[in-house]
Amino acid sequence: MSERTPVIAGNWKMFKTNTEAAAYVAEFLALVVDAGPVEIVLCPPFTCLEAVRRELADGRVRVAAQNMHFEAEGAYTGEVSAPMLKEIGVTDVVLGHSERRQYFCENDADLARKTSTALAAGIRPILCVGESDREREAGGTNDKLKGQLEGGLAGISADQLPEMLIAYEPIWAIGTGKTATPEIAEETIAFIRGALAGQFGPQAARRVRILYGGSVNPGNIGELMKAENIDGALVGGASLDAAGFARIIRFKEA
Ligand code: 13P
Repeated sequence: MSERTPVIAGNWKMFKTNTEAAAYVAEFLALVVDAGPVEIVLCPPFTCLEAVRRELADGRVRVAAQNMHFEAEGAYTGEVSAPMLKEIGVTDVVLGHSERRQYFCENDADLARKTSTALAAGIRPILCVGESDREREAGGTNDKLKGQLEGGLAGISADQLPEMLIAYEPIWAIGTGKTATPEIAEETIAFIRGALAGQFGPQAARRVRILYGGSVNPGNIGELMKAENIDGALVGGASLDAAGFARIIRFKEA
């Protein structure tokens, strides 16, 4: 058992209108308000961020955007900046999700700027890394992850590392129902912690929290959370149902 407080984050992706989000939040808060020492993060679409944050005003739940631009303002049609998110009370931001890397061409250089910008604005970055099934089969997992960590964290200091979260999301496990076994997730996250120790020193690497993401559900969270280096989960599909997500958050009680 590590001294790092667990974090369970729900990434809604492009799901839920404001009306649907309001119904979710009304049900959700009562289910998790006494959930014990676990940090809870909801990542709704931009359109619901302010309403969700307002409904969760007691501070039990953190609210994350799913992306952010690295400039404060400018001619970047369709983008949203850190000051805009900060003003409406957003606490965290998911950066470099594999869907953004794949469909919106995000690269590590962009992510380095986004990570630094978020930290400077007082918004906690959740930087996602992960390999494809082809990369894993070819034995390239560790090189891929090391490259993503060196690239995406190029602008930050050892002091800043523990202020952010890393999410290990193997692409082959996202939305596929094919969860990484606790052994694979632990082994890979231990590798990530080792790589971060090389980059930032052992103390920062010991403190930073690293989440696992990819087909997490109420049935597999307990085993994943027993692993030494897994500090939480970034949950996609199973976070869309308030009762199911609350069961994941209350994994210790199962
Ligand atoms: P699923 O839990 O639906 O596999 O999605 C994981 C994910 O991408 C969270 O960011």
